[in-house]
Amino acid sequence: MSKNTLYNADILSADQFNIVNLQLIMDTAKQMEKIVNNKGKTDLLTGKIMTTLFYEPSSRTFASFIAAMQRLGGGFIPLQGVTHSSVAKGESLPDTVRTFANYSDVIVIRHPEVGSVQVAADFADIPVINAGDGIGEHPTQGLLDLFTIHKHFSKLLKLTVTVVGDLLNGRTIHSLVRLLSLYPQITMNLVSPQILKLPPQLKKLLLSRGVKIYEMERLNKILPYTDVLYITRIQKERFTDLSVYEKLKYFYIITPKTLNFLKKTAIVMHPLPRVGEIDMEVDLDKRAVYIKQQMQNGMYIRMALLALILLK
Ligand code: NCD
Repeated sequence: MSKNTLYNADILSADQFNIVNLQLIMDTAKQMEKIVNNKGKTDLLTGKIMTTLFYEPSSRTFASFIAAMQRLGGGFIPLQGVTHSSVAKGESLPDTVRTFANYSDVIVIRHPEVGSVQVAADFADIPVINAGDGIGEHPTQGLLDLFTIHKHFSKLLKLTVTVVGDLLNGRTIHSLVRLLSLYPQITMNLVSPQILKLPPQLKKLLLSRGVKIYEMERLNKILPYTDVLYITRIQKERFTDLSVYEKLKYFYIITPKTLNFLKKTAIVMHPLPRVGEIDMEVDLDKRAVYIKQQMQNGMYIRMALLALILLK
């Protein structure tokens, strides 16, 4: 296994990775999966404490970080909603972060502002992990999504990935496409309503890395050529005019009929929560991996990251 370049590192953006340390993370995640399946937990991180500081709602990211730390034998300080901490009294992010840095070894933050997690990292003298900074990035979700794709296809090569939905505001997509663009011969179909296209800067980055890109508003034609169908919800909380959201919220709905056109070998992914964009009947299709594999991989990836960051 390659040298651990993640020791003591912050995890802020998918752009900090290369295919060598991505392989290390995914290999470590596979070991974590074995540990969980064989004995449920290990004492690798006994004596270490993680603070989870969430200024935005979360189910899976929050819970899987805590489960990950517990399965590694560590402790945690869980702050969700932050209404019961001094944040509700108006304490600033730098002061809050420096406070919890005194009690823990790593801080996981979710915050509504792009760049806020970078600010937190600048003030904390312990590693900080970005669990979503507004419409910016969600690198640990990107990693678990990449891991899910890698496990399914075994090689991250010549894949056609179709991302669908709110590409402008969807931070999981912003991280995933960055990671995928590091691999050879990737084609991306970017499917979104006109006003929710992938940010131009990000598109430019993907093109500069040799990704073949097609942008469109409709899904049907490309389904037979798609290996990974990745759909997200329209991100309601990012709209200033809710009437625009109302018009777009059901722009895409994946039904069993949609899947009739999709490759037999494809997978259907969603970071969740879904709010109507995938019909529940689709869950029964073998290609749907969002209910089980994708979520379980989230815990293995977060176990891997915590172990790599906290152990030399
Ligand atoms: C995503 C998020 O918070 O960005 N959820 C998650 O972490 N799995 C996706 C979303 O909220 O749509």
